[in-house]
Amino acid sequence: MSDDNKDQRDFWTDGGGLNWLAYEADLDASFAEIDQHLIAAGQPAGDMQVMDLGCGTGRTTRRIAQALGAGGSVTGVDISSSLLDAARAEGGTGISYLEADAQDYAFGDGAFDLILSRFGSMFFADPVAGLANLRRSLVPGGKMVLACWRRGKENPWFLVPLKAAITHFGPVGEIDPTAPGPTAFGDENRVLGLLEQAGFAEAGVEVLDLSLRYPRGIEDFIALQFKIGSMTRLIAEHEPDDAAKDRAAQMIAEAFADSSSADQVLIPARINLFTAVA
Ligand SMILES: C[S@@+](CC[C@H](N)C(=O)[O-])C[C@H]1O[C@@H](n2cnc3c(N)ncnc32)[C@H](O)[C@@H]1O
Repeated sequence: MSDDNKDQRDFWTDGGGLNWLAYEADLDASFAEIDQHLIAAGQPAGDMQVMDLGCGTGRTTRRIAQALGAGGSVTGVDISSSLLDAARAEGGTGISYLEADAQDYAFGDGAFDLILSRFGSMFFADPVAGLANLRRSLVPGGKMVLACWRRGKENPWFLVPLKAAITHFGPVGEIDPTAPGPTAFGDENRVLGLLEQAGFAEAGVEVLDLSLRYPRGIEDFIALQFKIGSMTRLIAEHEPDDAAKDRAAQMIAEAFADSSSADQVLIPARINLFTAVA
């Protein structure tokens, strides 16, 4: 087993991933609609054996379990013991969890009928190796459905805070859009190629144009953005003072002024929903 993904394991176990854990209920409320598309595309049912790849705190895992019948089961796979601890604490029938690096864990050939993932597939250091490993874990003809952000520039969730940070904290260094991270699978043609290289058939993509509903007001949304996502790198690099942070926060608030109220922020989002067959 390689240690290619040690940085990701460290991040998601006791680095920035702990901020994800702190905000996981609000993040899930924002992303819940994506699960409807994921489940409609994958159709978990009956006695299927399903993997939820990069399951985090298991919110999607539990929704998948509700779609299964007797004999069906869903395994939430994640590299972070911290997030899995939170998932396990919620329990649930027909659900188990596995701490593993999905890039190279030996799941067993044909262990799963279906793989689903909401935002858990874009972090492999070697994406072709990871996707090929997932293909081997599926029965022949088994389906995989991956929900992934499109490019950062198409998603105000990333673009607005990044612009505010560049304007008020300082320049950003070179960004490799394909480096492991939330928008690494943003370019659909690249990912369709990766799926083919990994041996998948019938690779396709549906682009979802959604309006995510963050379930609190703009001040909470801004506080989240200071902890998670595209601003955090520039905060670490430039160590902005409070005045600069206030100006950045103001810029974010203005960008969402027309779509925020006391108890919600609506954020337009573009998501790639990839499907492929083993
Ligand atoms: C953005 S979070 C998404 C969590 C969850 N699916 C959700 O939507 O709430 C990405 C997840 O992928 C997991 N992850 C990253 N690299 C992984 C790998 N190589 N193997 C398994 N899980 C991984 C992280 O630990 C994290 O829980």
